[in-house]
Amino acid sequence: MAETPVSVRIAGTGRSVPEKILTNADLEKIVDTSDEWITARSGIKRRHIAEPGTPLSELATDAGRKALAEANVEPEELDLILVGTVTGDFKFPSTATFIQAKLGARNAASLDISAACSGWIYGLHVVKSIIKAGEANKVLLVGGEILTSMTDWTDRSTCVLFGDAAGAAVLRREEGGTGGVLSTYIASNGELTHLLYGPGGGSAHPATDRTLSPDMFTVKMAGREVFKHAVVCMEEAAQEALRRANLQPEDIDVFIPHQANIRIIEAIAKRFKFPSEKIYINIQEYGNTSAASIPLAIDEAREKGIVRPGHKVLCSAFGGGFTWASTVIEF
Ligand code: UT7
Repeated sequence: MAETPVSVRIAGTGRSVPEKILTNADLEKIVDTSDEWITARSGIKRRHIAEPGTPLSELATDAGRKALAEANVEPEELDLILVGTVTGDFKFPSTATFIQAKLGARNAASLDISAACSGWIYGLHVVKSIIKAGEANKVLLVGGEILTSMTDWTDRSTCVLFGDAAGAAVLRREEGGTGGVLSTYIASNGELTHLLYGPGGGSAHPATDRTLSPDMFTVKMAGREVFKHAVVCMEEAAQEALRRANLQPEDIDVFIPHQANIRIIEAIAKRFKFPSEKIYINIQEYGNTSAASIPLAIDEAREKGIVRPGHKVLCSAFGGGFTWASTVIEF
């Protein structure tokens, strides 16, 4: 007897961003930069930043509650909470456990994934596989980051780029359904870790080193090198997600790329000949929110009616590691 096909559908989405806004004009007062440079080189105009000491689980739980409400799923129904982040609440336990407690999702297992800006799509790949294997029915998948907790406010080449946010989705198993997550793809190259990383706080440089080397605890990035790899890898990832879904670029209704730099987004969009109305861009408002970038954009695009039921959405991301990942989702 043929197996009943199983689809993995997004049943609800949500987002949470801090109220406080840091504009390019504000940054002009802190480092030697200008609104003109930041806008031209990155596309960013402002970013939302959390109060110092805000745990990521606060934003993540808020985003998760909204996704659960839309999905009409109770926290007790969740089998798993998975969080993509590199700025979790504690070194351990996982941020997912804090979210589990805050939501009262007592039947859920908790898991964090460290894949930097690719974290949410990496998580989607894992969640899809777990649901298809029959190991879970309902999963809360969060991408969240308090990147300002590891920002060097004296380094103009990085501090103008980052913002804080969380985005969430409830994934549900549907027997016999079609659509949902049509494909996922994940990849990495660990030989290039030195181009984008945050060394402090791990076993190589424990937090006890902080007084000796405060510089260890902030993001280090070789921007120009990262840029080149981001364009190549995000394009490759997008191709692969299309191939795995058996689709062509013209089948895609909306392209939602990781929001790291407007020039990266435009370069990729050009290669696929996506017209501007098919690309969702919100980098001007939030900057680079790493693992939150894609789910935040998906939730906003759905709310604005840009992503609608039946639409096929292509997402592609790139981040530290390097890691890169992509997905095609039919809503
Ligand atoms: O999310 C994970 C993936 N991350 C990314 O994909 C980020 C990739 N990289 C980038 O987005 C870009 O490389 C940046 C936006 C970070 C930088 O843009 P760029 O065009 O690559 O600039 P650059 O680093 O080559 O620097 C050009 C010039 C330098 O001055 P000189 O050496 O030419 O005199 C920098 O010192 O711009 C200078 N500069 C700045 N000037 C004003 C660097 N940062 C700033 C700044 N304000 N904030």
